[in-house]
Amino acid sequence: MISKITIDKVYESARLEEVIGDFVQLKKSGSNFKGLSPFSDERSPSFMVSPVKQIWKDFSSGKGGNVVAFLMEHEHFTYPEAIKYLAKKYNIEVEETEQSNEQKEQASERESMYLVSEFAQTHFKEMLWESELGKAIGLSYFKERGFTDETIKKFELGYCLDQWDGFTTAALDKGYKLEYLSKTGLTIVKDDPNNPNGSRKFDRFKGRVMFPIHSLSGRVLGFGGRILTNDKKAAKYLNSPESDIYHKSKVLYGIYHAKQSIAKEDNCYLVEGYTDVIQFVQRGIDNVVSSSGTALTPEQIRLINRLTKNITVLFDGDAAGLRASLRGIDLILEQGMNVRVCTFPEGEDPDSFAKNNELEDVMTYLNDNAKDFIQFKASLLVKEADNDPIKRADTVRDIVNSIAKIPDRIQKEIYIQECAQIMNISEAVLFNTLAQIEKKEDKDVKSQPKEEQKAFDVVRGKDVDEQKQEKVDVQYVLERKIIESLMLYGNLKEQFEDLVLKENDAGDLVLEPELSEIKVYEKIYLDLQEDEIELANEDFRKMYARLIEALNEKEDFSITNFVNGLEQEMANQISSILMEEERYMLHDWERKEIFPKSKEIGVAQLVSETILTLRCFLIKKRMNTLQNTTQDSTTDHREVLEEIMNYIQLNKLLNKKLNRVLS
Ligand code: CTP
Ligand code: MN
Repeated sequence: MISKITIDKVYESARLEEVIGDFVQLKKSGSNFKGLSPFSDERSPSFMVSPVKQIWKDFSSGKGGNVVAFLMEHEHFTYPEAIKYLAKKYNIEVEETEQSNEQKEQASERESMYLVSEFAQTHFKEMLWESELGKAIGLSYFKERGFTDETIKKFELGYCLDQWDGFTTAALDKGYKLEYLSKTGLTIVKDDPNNPNGSRKFDRFKGRVMFPIHSLSGRVLGFGGRILTNDKKAAKYLNSPESDIYHKSKVLYGIYHAKQSIAKEDNCYLVEGYTDVIQFVQRGIDNVVSSSGTALTPEQIRLINRLTKNITVLFDGDAAGLRASLRGIDLILEQGMNVRVCTFPEGEDPDSFAKNNELEDVMTYLNDNAKDFIQFKASLLVKEADNDPIKRADTVRDIVNSIAKIPDRIQKEIYIQECAQIMNISEAVLFNTLAQIEKKEDKDVKSQPKEEQKAFDVVRGKDVDEQKQEKVDVQYVLERKIIESLMLYGNLKEQFEDLVLKENDAGDLVLEPELSEIKVYEKIYLDLQEDEIELANEDFRKMYARLIEALNEKEDFSITNFVNGLEQEMANQISSILMEEERYMLHDWERKEIFPKSKEIGVAQLVSETILTLRCFLIKKRMNTLQNTTQDSTTDHREVLEEIMNYIQLNKLLNKKLNRVLS
């Protein structure tokens, strides 16, 4: 268990915008930041971060909360994992109350897999740097490839001794369980033919140099291991198998080191292999990642899309790789990103090129040779057969096919123009081809919503129901405003004006204004109490109770602490409400429809108005019900009528108050 003191320190130190900034490219927007939702595939930003309130809200998925909630959602951390992550980031020492064996067992399966992987990384590093064989074989191999000590350490490279179960035994000795060694694939477990109750254990990576693969946040997810011999039968690289913590299609090698630089340079170099990444970084180009030999996936592209809109794909000289990677280009275009392509001279790959050239020369080469995808595809044709009309037509169709993938209309047009120029074909013909392709695709995906509709849906997302409710349900809006007022202004002392019945000098009863200075939450509580109003919405009712309790208890009520103390579900709802304003900043037209007023009016006025409007609304509702009962001729109406009269009086009074507030 992590101590309460540590948790408090973490909350005090963590800056939400900094933490989220490591994962999402945020742009300043008024007093907030906004960015593309990391939880959905969207092209217009609906993800808001409020540094003032220290909460975030993702309007496309409906998720939201504080800094810990973000890490739990985004990194799939458990609560303690998230706290530990923040503690590490902010250099806070984690005070832990000793874990019992039982507690250790209870630690989640995934966490156990992470721990085993972490141990493996440490172990392989130790073997590389400290064991004689490791130094002689592994370390000298890396040195031979031109990696410096600093680079080897930066990428936490290691070595797995050439023994059947050296690593497995070390892990078991340390108390790590075979179950997780097997689930992460670090150990291969086989039945023992000589002993029906026993099993035989092998190190998967026996005799290989090790490349740990890290998540965006730096956790070890899996490994790639390179063989050192020229054994043609064994795979050059062996990778960790898919597991609960390692999903190949969602991982990019090098992303942890590269993320800051990708965002800063606003470009990401995409290479094929581990060593390409490492060599680039060593040369001084940090914004580089690799899909590690597998075909690029939409998830991987989305990972980059969070950091930048621009990808430069770097291809080895060989043609086989080229063909496979062309599909990747279309995938990148489909995500609305800009893609450039750069090839290397015959026989060179990014690894060798970066190793053999100075930084300045590498940069010059990249800048001079990176082409947009049209130039690139056209240049492939030149290589094949420029004067073959059939090949030429194929290439043009191929290019237009790619252009069709681009979601943005204007960009499409620009590329069509470029293609026309390069391929020397009239724009009209190209537009025609494009239209044909789009028509066909439209037919193919008839059941699916069109692009524009999708974008719209994403923005409204899960909140559609909520929004509908807002538009028709006045009570919902008002109750929500009450919750909002409690959170934002609950502890403020304000001057409230009330009309009270008083005897004037002539002895008549008249309504006179009376000022009182009380806290906003008291005002709300007392007024609602007066009418015995209970909030109708169940969630609001719960929040209301919690808020009143918290405000009553703590002189120094802070919304951040309050949200931090809530369970996930409620914290999420609360964040939604707090971020309401921000949402209207995203869609101004909505604000016009729902909340015509700005918050420039004073707090006291806003609160009074909200309460009075709600009270009037409920009274009218009540009167309507009562009036309906009077249409039932079987009952005695006298009492009901009397009640209605009372309500009319009250309504008048409330309206009077409301008018005063409004004027
Ligand atoms: N790869 C793999 N399994 C293999 C071969 C390759 O997973 N059997 C992946 C690795 O991630 C590798 C990438 O594909 O880094 C690119 O392959 P390749 O170009 O053959 O490897 P290099 O990175 O160039 O490796 P090296 O320079 O060490 O030969
Ligand atoms: Mn290579």
